[in-house]
Parts: sequence; C-alpha cells; structure tokens
Amino acid sequence: MIQPEQHPAVLDSHPEGSSRFIRACLRQPVDRTPVWFLRQAGRYMPEYMAVRKHHSLLEICRSPNIAAEVTITAAERLGVDAAIIFADLLLPFTPMGLDFEFVAGEGPVVHTPIRSLEHIQSLRTDRVDELQYVANAIEKVAAHFAAPRHDGDHLGIIGFCGAPFTLASYMIEGGSSRNYIHTKKLMYAGDAAWPLLMEKLVTVLVAYAAQQVEAGADVIQIFDSWAGALSVADYRQYCLAPTTELIQRVKALGVPVIYFGVDTASLLPSMRETTADVIGLDWRIPLDEGWRAVGPGCAVQGNLDPITLFAPEAVLEARVREVLNLAAGRPGHIFNLGHGIVPETPVENVIRVVEWVKQFGAAASAQARPGESTHVR
Ligand code: CP3
Repeated sequence: MIQPEQHPAVLDSHPEGSSRFIRACLRQPVDRTPVWFLRQAGRYMPEYMAVRKHHSLLEICRSPNIAAEVTITAAERLGVDAAIIFADLLLPFTPMGLDFEFVAGEGPVVHTPIRSLEHIQSLRTDRVDELQYVANAIEKVAAHFAAPRHDGDHLGIIGFCGAPFTLASYMIEGGSSRNYIHTKKLMYAGDAAWPLLMEKLVTVLVAYAAQQVEAGADVIQIFDSWAGALSVADYRQYCLAPTTELIQRVKALGVPVIYFGVDTASLLPSMRETTADVIGLDWRIPLDEGWRAVGPGCAVQGNLDPITLFAPEAVLEARVREVLNLAAGRPGHIFNLGHGIVPETPVENVIRVVEWVKQFGAAASAQARPGESTHVR
C-alpha cells in the first residue's frame, strides 16, 4: 500500500506540497481546512444556466472547451480549493454499448436496461479511448490552474467516476430507482451475471480514471451515491470486493481516492475497508461520529446538509461552525456538503460558506496543530 508520505502524485505535480486540498486528503497538516462542494457547477449557478441555454448536458460534457470553462467558472466564482471536472457518472455507458439520455425532469434514462447475462456478455470494455474528451477537458483545467493562487496554494483538480454498484443500478433499473428491485434480483441470482458486470465495470473505470490522472487530475473521487440502498451484509457480499479492487487500482495510479456515498452510516466501517484515502460523509451522521466509524487512519470529507444553504444566515453559520467544531482541526478534514447543491440554492449563501470556512477553518487548524494528533475521540 502506498504510504501518504510517499504518494507519487503529490511529489510529482506539486513538489512543494502546496495544495492544502491534497495535503488534507493525505491527513497532512494544513494552514486551514480546504473547502469545495459536490455539484458546485450546476443549475443553481446563473453562469452554468447561461451555457445550458445553448447546449445540452451531454454536449457540455463532450466538448472539452465548454466543460473546462464550466469547471473553472464555478471554482473561481466560489473561491473554493478544488475544481471537480464537469462530466457525468453515466458517460462510460456509451463506449460500453449502452445508450442513454437525460430527460428533463426525469434524470438519466437507459433505453434498454440490462436484465440478462447475455446482455452483460455483450458489453464492451475495449473502447474507453472514446472517453478521452473528459481527459482533454482536465488538461485545459490543469493548464488554467497551473500557477499557484494569490495565497500560494495550488487549486486541486478532481477527476471522478461512479462506483460499480451505483453504475450497475442505473444500467439495470434504466434510471433512478426507489427499491432497486431489478438490481438486487440480478445480484441475488447467484449466477455469473453480477460478478461479470462488476468485473467489466472495474476494467472500464480503471482505464477511465487512468486517462484522467494522466491528464492532470490530482485526486479521483468515486461516487457510490446509492450504496445506502444496501444492507451491510449485501454491501459486503456483492460490492466490497469489486469496489476495493477499483480503489486499489486507482490508488496505484499515484493519486489519493475519495470514496463517497449517501445514507451510509451503517456502511462506513466496510467502506473504509476499500482502503480509500478519504471517505465522503453524507449529512445525516454527525461528522465526529462518522470519523469514528471510519477510524483515525482515514481522512473525511463533508458534511453540511445542502438544504441548510436555504436557511437564514445565523442558522447557516451555526451549522458551518458545528461541522468545523466536530472536525476539531484534526488533519484530514475537507469541508464539503453531505450531498450535491440543489437547483434554486442561493449562490451568495454558497460563497458565504466558503468565506466562513476560510475564517473559522484557519482557527481550527491552528488550534489542533500543537499536538498534531490524528486521533479521534
Ligand atoms: O460540479 C459538479 O459536481 C458537476 C459535475 C457532475 C455532474 N454529475 C453534472 C450534472 C458530477 C460530479 C455528476 C455526478 C453524478 N451524476 C452523480 C453522483 C453525484 C450525486 O449526486 O450523488 C449522479 C448520481 C449522476 C447521475 C445524474 N446526472 C442524475 C441522477 C442526474 C439528474 C438529477 C438532476 O439533478 O437533475 C444528472 C444530471 C446532471 N449531471 C446535472 C449536472 C449539473 C443536472 C442536470 C442538467 O444540467 O441538465
């Protein structure tokens, strides 16, 4: 296993170790808590909607210039410490041979959902090169942020992909789901279908992540957004091994991995077993409790409820302070939401949160530094 101190990406891309976001991923001390947001480039932001007026979501994803512009605009407008590349979880479906589209008001729709071993056997794993447009967008973002910012810090660049379970659930259900009946039926069938689907997804996702790292992604985030639909026993029996394989192979590319899911309180100790460097916590669990569940040898990201961004200023400020207080300045906390920013969120409240984290997060880090303990109470 790669030790944080020897992490090649950190040594290579920023030899001076000047990205507080990457340092926090590796539980190294930072001058202040780094901050970024899930879905920071999205429909709540007028600049994004202006681009969306002329282009579909998939057009934006598949046009490196536009995807890079949307990524950069959001990061600069908010003043955050990391930029997540503008893309979507479902993009790898196309080179695998599975057609889908985004239907207004409905989300993603897969036209011929997977229900059989034969269909899984027909999925292609040899055309990942077709996703190169995402890497091209990352190259442009990396070139834009190559120089350190005014405070001397390098903005972190986050590439991402879905986790095997969450992607399989879209492939099998054909879209968003409530009970995951078809997914779990295929999983429980006990034949070759589920293991083969997991294996094919891992093959494609490792190659896709490798393109992103090669292009300049400093960190890869793996979204297992719907893992919370699984019992601990099912997660462990059907998903832990392929997810661990994916995470270990992405780490071997030389970058830290953030592993995120929603409604995961009961799954956290198992998620930690994947060896991810950082676990993304959803907003339901108090941050210190979540950190205790994953253990002190792991960084955490989170976990403000995105809907508190609609609250009056005093409530919002109190919630931001609460998250920082629960992290207590221990190395290895990245401030974020517990899930993505939703449409209609007031942009000025998002910016205010960034300012507060910069203000209060510095004090918290300074407080914790004397002992530099990474222990969780
Ligand atoms: O700044 C960013 O984070 C934007 C980049 C980004 C998008 N999708 C663009 C997008 C990221 C990181 C994603 C990941 C993604 N995609 C996830 C995991 C994150 C999570 O929320 O748990 C998931 C589950 C998807 C699949 C997906 N894409 C759904 C379910 C939807 C529809 C839901 C909705 O909000 O409408 C999308 C569409 C989508 N992907 C949008 C954006 C900005 C909004 C739709 C639009 O612009 O038309």
